[in-house]
Amino acid sequence: MSTRIDEIADRIYRIHTPIQLSTGGFSFNQYLLVDDEPLLFHTGMKGLFPAVKAAIETVIPFERLRWFGFSHHEADENGALAEMLDAAPHATAVASLVGATISLADSVSRPARPLADGEVLTIGTRQLTWLDAPHLPHAWECGFMFESTTRTLLCGDLFTQPGAQDDPIVETDILGPSEAFRAQMDYFSHSRHTRANLDKLAALAPRTLACMHGSAWTGDGANLLRALADAWDR
Ligand SMILES: [Fe+2]
Ligand SMILES: [Fe+2]
Repeated sequence: MSTRIDEIADRIYRIHTPIQLSTGGFSFNQYLLVDDEPLLFHTGMKGLFPAVKAAIETVIPFERLRWFGFSHHEADENGALAEMLDAAPHATAVASLVGATISLADSVSRPARPLADGEVLTIGTRQLTWLDAPHLPHAWECGFMFESTTRTLLCGDLFTQPGAQDDPIVETDILGPSEAFRAQMDYFSHSRHTRANLDKLAALAPRTLACMHGSAWTGDGANLLRALADAWDR
């Protein structure tokens, strides 16, 4: 296991750890946004904590972190949250209203800050908007964050690509590989609101999609999100 860190947009870093499963390669990404109040989106599992912390410390001291965000409550999204809150005493977790009040209420030492749909978190020179997206692709509390200066959508499990992706950011097709993976794993909830949630994200016109599994992607994000909605409809 080797963890690397690469800047994929202005002061936005992908932390990437490939692993080998019996079914093939897979990878876990966290995203570090450096500003006056640095934010980490996803913590990774507890087992990744030392490697993720070491990668962050090549950019900023870990205790400078002020925010830990995550898409939904699951081992790879926020498994190391308690350890990270201990190691970054000035940091607070942020999540959707459901995520903060129900999923986290009993599992971490400090209360999380709930963000309503459309609420903006200022981390210094930049602003992050929280978008509720229940059950997209899974979990009631699910949502995403959008950084408006670089137009980066922290899109969690959307466009999950299997394998180890050494390219931090690509312009090539990620929908094909992620749809092939979805056909195998069926990790999307079968919600009636999938298209409406994807259309809401497409309306942001993201230029970078910061995927949690695989490479980040740059291009016409609205088009790609609508293509995913079309694939879902089919
Ligand atoms: Fe997930
Ligand atoms: Fe995930």
